[in-house]
Amino acid sequence: MNKNIAVIRGDGIGPEIVEQALRVLEKTAEKFGHTFSFTDVDMGGCAIDKWGNPLPEAELQKCLESDSVLLGAVGGEKWNNVAGDMRPEKGLLRLRAGMGVYSNNRPAKIWKQLAEASPLKKEIVEKGIDFIIVRELIGGIYFGEHKTAGNVATDILQYSEEEIERIGRIGFETARKRNKKLCSVEKSNVLDSSRLWKKVMHSLAEEYPDVELSDMLVDNCAMQIVKNPAQFDVIVTENMFGDILSDEASMITGSIGMIPSSSLGATSCGLYEPIHGSAPDIAGMDVANPIGTILSVAMMLRFSFDMPNEADSIENAVSAVLDDGFRTADIMSDGCKKVGCSEMGNLIISRM
Ligand code: IPM
Ligand code: MG
Repeated sequence: MNKNIAVIRGDGIGPEIVEQALRVLEKTAEKFGHTFSFTDVDMGGCAIDKWGNPLPEAELQKCLESDSVLLGAVGGEKWNNVAGDMRPEKGLLRLRAGMGVYSNNRPAKIWKQLAEASPLKKEIVEKGIDFIIVRELIGGIYFGEHKTAGNVATDILQYSEEEIERIGRIGFETARKRNKKLCSVEKSNVLDSSRLWKKVMHSLAEEYPDVELSDMLVDNCAMQIVKNPAQFDVIVTENMFGDILSDEASMITGSIGMIPSSSLGATSCGLYEPIHGSAPDIAGMDVANPIGTILSVAMMLRFSFDMPNEADSIENAVSAVLDDGFRTADIMSDGCKKVGCSEMGNLIISRM
């Protein structure tokens, strides 16, 4: 197959981790007889420096014309003082909204090889950690009006029934393909938007009688994720709650550097990115963990290109490298062999 992938290297460690992911894609193309072409897209701080805009229209257009988008990470200290709507992160939000990718899928799965890197007690980890957070990605407080007037700042959190219903369906469909347990997370004891959220989830539940729906308040959920993560199969939640809970969930699996994500909307053109940030403190040092980005590529192959064998081949290679005891600094533990970013890429490619 022929696929055109828009590539956003971004800022900080973005370029180095994306480089390894592209090499993995090239290896996949060679092994399975595909042709992948790459179109570079400027987004984030580097786009501010070059174009004075974190995502110029022409760059967004390249993404919309692609078969899918691969993103490293954006942002950094250097752009912390630019105006809110010109920040690097704004480019990312415009990209998500422009692509209409309302459904963000963030797996929290512990690799057996990394069980020791989890900060949780052994007896909790042993019960298993394998759940998915389905996060609404293009609504809520991120996209409501933001304004500052004098000494008062306001951010609006708004959801319509339609927005809740379409992400709710993804939650139910995702659970249906797994262990059929969906936990809807909100703050319905305080927020109107959460009461609407809960109501819509329960009316959808009638269409999915095979899926067991439960409700959980977000503060309790934050606690349950560390207390008993084995109880979760699929969590569905709004944009900001999902942002926060997915960082927490990633940490209990050992390292945020391991977690990929997919974002999809109405078409097969998806946005694939690791969930971690641009880590400017270690940028350019060849020590970052490229696995989250490499696994994002596997998700792209699986969900957007319908190439499950290709995706398996990458995921198995990652597992084999971990089996052999190779670790980047973030997941390093006693008795393992420490490698850098490009060496980790080499090892994964060699196992493919
Ligand atoms: C994430 C990030 C982004 C978000 C930032 C960089 C805007 O934290 O993808 O989780 O909040 O969505
Ligand atoms: Mg986040």
